[in-house]
Amino acid sequence: MKIAIVPGSFDPVTNGHIDIIKRTAELFDEVYVGILINSSKKPLFTVEERIELLKKVTKDIKNVKIESFCGLLVDFARAKKASCIVKGLRAVSDYEYEVQMALTNKQIAPEIETLFIPTNGLYSYLSSSIVKEVAKYGGDLTQMLPNEIIEVIQNKIGGKQ
Ligand code: PNS
Repeated sequence: MKIAIVPGSFDPVTNGHIDIIKRTAELFDEVYVGILINSSKKPLFTVEERIELLKKVTKDIKNVKIESFCGLLVDFARAKKASCIVKGLRAVSDYEYEVQMALTNKQIAPEIETLFIPTNGLYSYLSSSIVKEVAKYGGDLTQMLPNEIIEVIQNKIGGKQ
């Protein structure tokens, strides 16, 4: 049984995240999407809301489970018996930070690999922060988010479209 973790803040989940989750689900038997509970960040969505949204948009992928975690990512991976952490790489600008995290994780938990999947070119510009910025000023989000998330973010932020 090959188990992978797709970690992140998912505040909120975007089409870019969904693409990576789907592709990971094709490579592994089981995938845990791990939402980091980070007390030093002020997220737009609560952890419960993010779990609910992720469950909604991944409901058709049978081997995906959504959970939250706090503390070290490798401890969460070990608890789930995962052998791999999967991250999407958008651009060179992601690379330095992502490699630093991957090497740190490898140092702490040598048995766990990090796998980088290049983001679908359609979403290489996309991030949760960009989405929140566009939502704030009422911009078109149709290429960035599934419809059910567009509704929720518009209600939350109150941007017009
Ligand atoms: O979506 P994000 O915010 O880029 O995700 C970052 C995340 C959650 C993958 C990263 O912050 C993380 O793994 N945090 C857990 C703490 C940890 O394990 N730190 C050590 C590795 S640097």
